[in-house]
Amino acid sequence: VTPSIMLRNPVSLVSNEMNTLAKNIMALIGSGHPVLNRVTSYYFEAEGKKVRPLLVLLLSRALAEIPLEQRTQSLIDSVDVPEDPVYSQPPKSLLFEPPANNLSPLDILHGIKPLNPLTKGPEPIPEANFDKERGILPKQRRLAEIVEMIHTASLLHDDVIDHSDTRRGRASGNVAFTNKMAVLAGDFLLGRATVAISRLRNPEVVELMSNSIANLVEGEFMQLKNTAVEDISIINQGNKPLPAASKKLNNEVHDYRVPRAVGEGISHDQMIETAFDYYLHKTYLKTAALISKSSRAAAILSGVDRTVVDQCYEFGKDIGICFQLVDDMLDFTVSAKDLGKPAGADLELGIATAPVLYAWKADPSLGPLIQRNFSQPGDVEQTAEAVANSNGVFKTKKLAEKYRDQALQNLRKALPESDARSALEFLTNSILTRGK
Ligand code: FPP
Ligand code: MG
Ligand code: MG
Repeated sequence: VTPSIMLRNPVSLVSNEMNTLAKNIMALIGSGHPVLNRVTSYYFEAEGKKVRPLLVLLLSRALAEIPLEQRTQSLIDSVDVPEDPVYSQPPKSLLFEPPANNLSPLDILHGIKPLNPLTKGPEPIPEANFDKERGILPKQRRLAEIVEMIHTASLLHDDVIDHSDTRRGRASGNVAFTNKMAVLAGDFLLGRATVAISRLRNPEVVELMSNSIANLVEGEFMQLKNTAVEDISIINQGNKPLPAASKKLNNEVHDYRVPRAVGEGISHDQMIETAFDYYLHKTYLKTAALISKSSRAAAILSGVDRTVVDQCYEFGKDIGICFQLVDDMLDFTVSAKDLGKPAGADLELGIATAPVLYAWKADPSLGPLIQRNFSQPGDVEQTAEAVANSNGVFKTKKLAEKYRDQALQNLRKALPESDARSALEFLTNSILTRGK
């Protein structure tokens, strides 16, 4: 097979869809409140990597190469999805009725600048037309938009949880608009994503994507509090008054714990193994679940058989874990300027990721520091140095390579050879060479 230009630029195969992605999302998230519109559209304005929608679109394109005879027609046919009357129209009140410039008197008072007016709701999903093209289905295009909306909602919340002050090279949502607005904007994005999911009119896809949202929260919670081991001090707090808000916030960010088994008669190697299991499970939930479940959903929408659906799911899972392993590695190796977000953040947040766990394997004295979430003066510096002097980053890269190889294997099992599959292979490989 002659390598085509597509091999070098995976986006070019789906550039039309990628170019209209942000515009289509804007149509899905329009509200009657101009300030809400500003906050919800804020992260879409800056250039993100858009890896998740790119994966969904390329996968959809590659799935389209599977002959129609091998797919269930009834699954692919789009049902007519009527215009939804529940989309929030701007209320006809003086306060929020958008004048020509889409600003309310209150916005003008607060010096808010006009924004392009957002539309009321999504266009109905058009019918699939197989005679004309065998490409990406309208519902798969919508799925790509939904995935980016869920991801962006989680970033708005994540930056509040992590106290991050930058994202995509500029002020994070919490800094630009306050925590309250960032949280509410994330909730609103999730609400609209949910509407769009239900409008795909496929119960299995609805279940998958809804679960991916729940998984994000579970993963984030695993990172926040170690619930794998009973923590009596937390349980006992049940009927005591809650600590003051500020104190609670500080406790929270430092509350991730390695399993209690530390130092209680279990071997060092067993401890590392438990910590890795916990870490990888957390990684699946917080990052890979959205990617794997949307990959599965793309396959379901294309009507392919269950084996292919399962292989697409496995592909998404491996690539998702690979992606987060690289993310955790870059936190140690790349500057904040190059990342466009805080660097070295995980140690500051008390989070022990793969590079630290590998360093701990070689240097058991890191155990207590990990256990107390690097909360004592000098802990962060000492751990950073231990990681730098260990093979932790190198071994994390090796682990990421293992997941990359598994992803490539599943991809080749699932899909026939095509430009789209080559582009997916290229994208999978480039996850390990990315610099941010
Ligand atoms: C980025 O991780 C964050 C995630 C992958 C998921 C965050 C999920 C939540 C906050 C749960 C709430 C979910 C929804 C859907 C609203 P990171 O902090 O390691 O990466 P970063 O360096 O990009 O901040
Ligand atoms: Mg973060
Ligand atoms: Mg985070």
